[in-house]
Amino acid sequence: MKIVVVGATGTIGSALVYALQNDHEVIAVGNSRGDYQVDMTSEDSIRELMGSLGHFDSLAVTAGNVAFNSLQAMTSAEWQKGVDSKLMGQINLVRYALKALNENGSITLTSGIIAREPIPKGISACTVNGAVNHFVKAASLEMPRGIRINCVSPTVLKESSATYGDFFPGFIPVPASTVAQAYKKSIMGIQNGRIFEVD
Ligand SMILES: NC(=O)c1ccc[n+]([C@@H]2O[C@H](COP(=O)([O-])OP(=O)(O)OC[C@H]3O[C@@H](n4cnc5c(N)ncnc54)[C@H](OP(=O)(O)O)[C@@H]3O)[C@@H](O)[C@H]2O)c1
Repeated sequence: MKIVVVGATGTIGSALVYALQNDHEVIAVGNSRGDYQVDMTSEDSIRELMGSLGHFDSLAVTAGNVAFNSLQAMTSAEWQKGVDSKLMGQINLVRYALKALNENGSITLTSGIIAREPIPKGISACTVNGAVNHFVKAASLEMPRGIRINCVSPTVLKESSATYGDFFPGFIPVPASTVAQAYKKSIMGIQNGRIFEVD
C-alpha cells in the first residue's frame, strides 16, 4: 500500500512509520521535516501537498496542535489555534485527500484521551478532540468509493511523559509502538467510523 503519514516525524508518527515501513511504501510528511512538508493550518499548503503526492491508498494524520490554558484565561487566539490546526487542519486534509485516495482506501485521524477525561487546562483539547471524533463518525457515513475513515484516541504516551506527564496524574502512559498498532488496525482492517481508544 502507498500510505501517507502527516506528522510522520513526530512521536506517534515516527512509531507508525516504523511499524509500516517494511511492508508498505510510506510517504513521510512533516511541517519542516520529512519527504514532503505541509502546514495543515493552511488550505493552500494542503492543496499543494495533495497535488504533489499523486494517488495513494491511505492517509494517517498524527499531527495537530491545541493550546493549553484554563477556561477563564484562554484567549481567542489560543482557542483558534486548536480550531485551525487539530480540527480544521485534519478536516481539510480529509477533504483534499478524498480526491487523491484510491478506491477502498482509508483515512485515520488523531484525537486523544482528553476528549473523554478532561484535565486542568485541557478545555480546548477536550473540545477539539471531541469535535474530531464526531467529525469522523459523521464523515464515515458519507465516504465515497469504499473509502473508510477512523480515528485513534490515545492516552498520554510514555515517550511524552517527561513533557506532559504532570498534567496526567493517575493516567497510565502507553508506548508509541502500542499506539501505532491502532493506526495499523484502522489502515488494514475493515472498520469504518470507529474511534480506537488506546489507554
Ligand atoms: N504525545 C502524546 O502523548 C499524545 C497523546 C494523545 C494524543 N496526541 C495527539 O497526537 C498528535 C501527535 O502528537 P505527537 O506527540 O506525536 O506530536 P509531536 O511529536 O509534537 O509531532 C508533531 C508532528 O506534527 C508535525 N507538525 C507540526 N506542526 C504542523 C503543521 N502546522 N502542519 C503539519 N504538520 C505539523 C510535526 O512536523 P515537524 O517534525 O516537521 O515539525 C511532527 O511530525 C497531536 O494531535 C496530539 O495532540 C498525543
